[in-house]
Order: sequence, then C-alpha cells, then structure tokens
Amino acid sequence: MRRLIGGAALAFAATLTAALSAFGPEQSGKPLDGQAIFRFDTFGDEQFWTDVLRMQEPIATVSPATALAVGLKVDVDALPQGVIDALRAGQVNLNDPAVTLALLQLNAVVGVKGTVANGQLTRVGITCALCHSSVDNSFAPGIGHRMDGWANTSLNVGAIVSLSPALPDALKAELRTWGPGKYDPRHHAFDGTNIIPLNSPSLPIVIPPIYGLKNVGFETYTADGPISYWNSYVGVGQMGGHGSFSDPRIGLTITQTPDLVTPKLPALLDYQLRLRPPAPPAGSFDPEAADRGEELFKDRAGCATCHRSPAYTDVLDGPDHDVPLLHDPSEVGTEAGYAARTATGKYRTTPLRGLLQHAPYFHDGSAPDLLAVVNHYDQQFGLHLTDAQKHDLVEFLKTL
Ligand code: HEC
Ligand code: HEC
Repeated sequence: MRRLIGGAALAFAATLTAALSAFGPEQSGKPLDGQAIFRFDTFGDEQFWTDVLRMQEPIATVSPATALAVGLKVDVDALPQGVIDALRAGQVNLNDPAVTLALLQLNAVVGVKGTVANGQLTRVGITCALCHSSVDNSFAPGIGHRMDGWANTSLNVGAIVSLSPALPDALKAELRTWGPGKYDPRHHAFDGTNIIPLNSPSLPIVIPPIYGLKNVGFETYTADGPISYWNSYVGVGQMGGHGSFSDPRIGLTITQTPDLVTPKLPALLDYQLRLRPPAPPAGSFDPEAADRGEELFKDRAGCATCHRSPAYTDVLDGPDHDVPLLHDPSEVGTEAGYAARTATGKYRTTPLRGLLQHAPYFHDGSAPDLLAVVNHYDQQFGLHLTDAQKHDLVEFLKTL
C-alpha cells in the first residue's frame, strides 16, 4: 500500500506544475477574474488560519476520509488521470493524512489552500468557495466537479475550527455544537492581529447559496448591505483576509494595508451575479400539484405579498430604493436573536431559489424541510390549509 501511495504521490508531483499553471495566468496582468478570486484567493488570510489558529498542525494529521466526513469537497478536475485511476482502483489510502497533503498540493480541496514545503504543510488559508461551493459527487460522495454558488450544506465549520490548538476548550466545545451547514458570522471578527469577540453565545446560521442573487439588491438574511459590503465583511473580518472594513452601525472598523480585499470586490461581485440557480431535477416535483400550489402561493396563502417574483423577495419594494424593505422577526415568527446582532435588526424576505438543494430553511435552519416551512406559516398566519393544499404548496416551492 505504501508503494502505491508513493506512486500516486509521484503522479501528483508530476502534474503539480501543470495543475498550478491552469489558474496562474488569470492572476497576472489581465483584468481580475472573479471566478479565480472566488475559488482560489485567500486574500492573505493565512495570517489568521496559519499564524493565529495554527490549522496547519491538525490538518497535517487529518485523513481524506475525515476531511470528507466534515464536508470538505474534492475537485475531481484538479486531479491528474493517474490519481483518478488509482482512486478508482481503490489504490489510494483515504485514511492516510499524506494523501490529504498531496490533495492540498494539487489545489484539489475546494476552498482550502495549502502550501507544502519539504513534505510539510507550512501555510493554510481559505477561500469563498469553502462555504459557497459544492461538488456534484460524480466521482464519489464529496468528490466531483465544482458547483460554485451552492451552499455547502454538509460543511462542518465548527468541527473544523475546533481542531485549532490555539483556542480555549470552552470555545472549542461551543464550536462543536454548530453542526453541518452552519456558521456564525456575528460571533467574532479578526482584525489582522487579534480575535475580537462580537456576540456571545454563538448563534450559528445556515450557510446560504449565493446563486440567483441578480436583482435582489440587498444580501444576507438581514440585508445589511449589497453583495460587496458583505463580501468585505466576510473577506476581512471572518476569513481574516488582509484588508480593510468599516461599518459604524455595528461599531466595527478594521484597517490593514495593503488592502488585498477591496480592489477585488468588483470582479468578485460580477462573478457572483453570474451564478444561476440550479433547475429542479427532472421528476422532482408533480407539475399539476405545483400549478395548484402556485395559485395558493399568490392568493390564498398570501406568500406572494412578500415573496414577489421574479426574485421572490420584496426587499427592493420600499419607497427608497437605497433602503431595504424589511420585516420584524415577529411578523414571520422566526428566531429574533440573530437579527438583533446585525445592523438592521430585521429580516429580509429571503429570495426563493434552488430550494430543493439547500434544506434546512430559515436563517437558523429551524425548518428541516419544505413541509415544515409551510406548517410554520400555516400556524403563524392562521391559514388553515388542508393537507392537500400544503402538499401542493410544497410541490410549487420545489420548482423554484
Ligand atoms: C465560513 C463560511 C463562509 C465563508 C468562507 C464565506 N461565507 Fe458568505 N456567507 C456565509 C454565511 C453563514 C452567510 C449568511 C450571513 C447572513 O445572511 O447574515 C453568508 C452570506 C453570503 C452572501 C449573501 C447570500 C444571500 O442569501 O443573500 C453572499 C453573497 C456571500 N456570503 C458571499 C461570500 C463571498 C464572496 C465570500 C468570500 C469573500 C464568502 N461569502 C465567504 C458563510 C461564509
Ligand atoms: C410577511 C412577509 C412574508 C410572508 C407573507 C411569507 N414570507 Fe416566507 N420569508 C419571509 C422572511 C422575512 C423570511 C426569512 C425568515 C428567516 O430566515 O428567519 C422568509 C423565508 C422563507 C423561506 C426560507 C427560504 C430559505 O432559503 O431559507 C421559505 C421557503 C418561505 N419563506 C416560503 C414562504 C411561503 C411558502 C409563504 C406563504 C405560506 C411565505 N414564505 C410567506 C417573509 C415572508
């Protein structure tokens, strides 16, 4: 087995140069490439993941099997044919941490960038793709072609970060309670040197998909600002990129020069706006029931008063286009604590897109499936829908 791994590692090395040059040119000279930034740019956040969290230490001991189990994805297109063949033949030991290093060296772990020198993992950083990309599992569970914009619903950020040797045990225990597909962007921020506590205890929220945001106008569950505002908030304060962010509304100002985030925001925005939601798979819903459900959605169930097509949100329907139209948590009956920690204190009507793909629903994931969403509203608004009507409504939601 050792010998086979050695062979695979050789194949990794042989194709490493080719794999790296595949995205090298996009980063030099030419206009900034939003896709390359989204997938591969760490904005210098190794200062957080390596220098402060020391994630290179635990990651060097993690097997690919464990990495896949916490929701990390492998980009099959980054693997040379020799490795694909070896994987297919069952000749790659997925319990060997050395294989994880080889995958990092190939830039094949979605959203994680590692630098390996003399067989040691020396630097590690993350990119936007970590949370907002998945793979199509075409090769094996967790291994396939990239699908940018899809929420990584199986990614267990809390479990991963809790491996950091730099964090206190109590915090690690708290992080481990987050579970897959969730993250709390309001718990702390990183200012380039220190971790700044923001809110406690943590309130992890669902990692949303970021496709289908064209014409939405204000992003995030609480509509704190447009896409680039949020990208800056996350890129600097959460990912730990080397850049600047300031929002007096939440009392957070981070200044770091040179700023490796801000100049990239326009290209990153352009790329995000190009990400289309997936069409529902053939046969995934009953068309006749969905038609009846659409009528209910617009009419009797009143959903369309807030979820207005085409984007299925009303966030831009207020009197002033520069001010988001929002809803008090009590209006929709969802958890209020998270909104209270944000700049607006309220929730934006979530634009409905690719719903089948990203359960659970609501910002806190309190609805495990679409029927639970409908049941929530049935109670909240006293709709008294029959079981058949609920079914029809669910079938319509599946089409979005
Ligand atoms: C550690 C996981 C994580 C990483 C890394 C991350 N995000 Fe997010 N992202 C989230 C979470 C959680 C939210 C929900 C925040 C909210 O709505 O309050 C979010 C929200 C968003 C939204 C709003 C989506 C909507 O529903 O309107 C966009 C757009 C976005 N992220 C883009 C990015 C970009 C671009 C990057 C890289 C600069 C990035 N994210 C990095 C977890 C992450
Ligand atoms: C008063 C405005 C309003 C009405 C009416 C309304 N919604 Fe919503 N909807 C919202 C808001 C605000 C959220 C975000 C709540 C949260 O995440 O806590 C939301 C979230 C959702 C989500 C979760 C989307 C996701 O990606 O997490 C679904 C699905 C949904 N609504 C469907 C419906 C259906 C079906 C109806 C009719 C029965 C309906 N809504 C009626 C405002 C409304």
